[in-house]
Amino acid sequence: MRRLLVTGGAGFIGANFVRYWAGKYPDDQIVVLDALTYAGNMANLQGLDEFAGFEFVHGDIADQKLVTSLLVDQKLDTIVHFAAESHVDRSIHEPDAFIRTNVNGTHNLLRVAREVWLNRDDAPPSHLFHHVSTDEVYGTLGPDDPAFTEKTPYAPNSPYAASKAASDHLVRSYHHTFGLRVTTSNCSNNYGPYQFPEKLIPLMIVNALTGKTLPVYGDGSNIRDWLYVEDHCRGIDLVISRGKAGETYNLGGNNEHANIDIVREICARTDTLFAERPELAVAFPDAPAATGKPTESLVSFVKDRLGHDWRYAIDATKSTNELGYLPTEDFDSGLGQTIDWMLSNEAWWRAVMDGSYRAWLERNYA
Ligand code: NAD
Ligand code: DAU
Repeated sequence: MRRLLVTGGAGFIGANFVRYWAGKYPDDQIVVLDALTYAGNMANLQGLDEFAGFEFVHGDIADQKLVTSLLVDQKLDTIVHFAAESHVDRSIHEPDAFIRTNVNGTHNLLRVAREVWLNRDDAPPSHLFHHVSTDEVYGTLGPDDPAFTEKTPYAPNSPYAASKAASDHLVRSYHHTFGLRVTTSNCSNNYGPYQFPEKLIPLMIVNALTGKTLPVYGDGSNIRDWLYVEDHCRGIDLVISRGKAGETYNLGGNNEHANIDIVREICARTDTLFAERPELAVAFPDAPAATGKPTESLVSFVKDRLGHDWRYAIDATKSTNELGYLPTEDFDSGLGQTIDWMLSNEAWWRAVMDGSYRAWLERNYA
């Protein structure tokens, strides 16, 4: 039985992970620590109260006293560290928060873990600090470059990627210098339920339904490797259960697509869904598809992201060979499920986008 501290568990991947873990390991304890920034959302954790081992704590990973008391009082033995500022565009406009949370916050978790797990007599018999990182630390690829492996030199290009790279190095150093048991996973672009609609796929779905422009950066040729979020959660589970302390593992989807192709696919699927389901035109009257116009008419090629990485691709051979990792969701069904989820959860994305969730948060967590 594990006793987990899941940081950032109210965010997109963290919430999916908590749901995955509670379903698979119902006897485990899961304490979520989340600061509920704009990206954190209690609605993402709805229903988990019924799970006996679940607890939510509103707080900052940089709070040394709070993290210490959680680890000591609840005898937690595993940290799964998702909490981060995660959006590249925001890191270009306002990088400070990325350094504060991704670098200093991660360092605070590490020093508390070291103190509690390595220096105290009442430390649990075993421990693990799992750090959730990104493929963006490796930089960018050309069309014919081989995919990133765990040996690819770090070359982060955005303040977000640089802050994640710094945190990866800190995690590594706490293993090498102090003997803290750590693992790191570097993953490609996730998509699926509960993703904040500032990221490409949910943003395009929401804008297609509400008749807003679909902003494609540059010429839309940039390529990402897409992984359904549940496959990421399974991969993290494998690293936690079977990974070797001190090692890093790449997790990817073997699923490269240019942005413009993804946007066009979302447009085509939206048109088909509206043609098949007349009730959608009533629910989303501002969608072009509601009046038979092609959703693609909303596409607008806009100014490129500064320093925009052209291509990411993950070589997950090490994870496959050593852990048995393989993504199971194919993109066709994964994208379909994501669109269906957004159609069935209009209240969720409307609340996130129109700020009513923020107002609720201020009322309840001021
Ligand atoms: P997200 O932005 O949806 O969620 C981040 C969560 O962290 C939010 O709940 C937020 O409230 C919380 N948080 C932020 N600052 C905090 C702080 N100081 N203290 C406590 N909580 C704080 O992010 P996501 O997309 O779910 O990403 C989760 C992790 O996975 C990140 O570390 C990210 O770098 C990594 N990652 C993301 C992707 C992706 O495609 N989204 C891919 C690879 C790796
Ligand atoms: O690769 C893993 C990373 O994937 C994670 O570490 C990050 O946390 C996550 O945000 C994601 O970063 P990206 O920058 O790749 O994701 P985003 O959804 O912001 O953008 C995907 C691509 O789509 C990218 O090339 C930029 C482009 N884009 C994005 C938005 C939001 C557009 O063309 N238009 C848009 O409006």
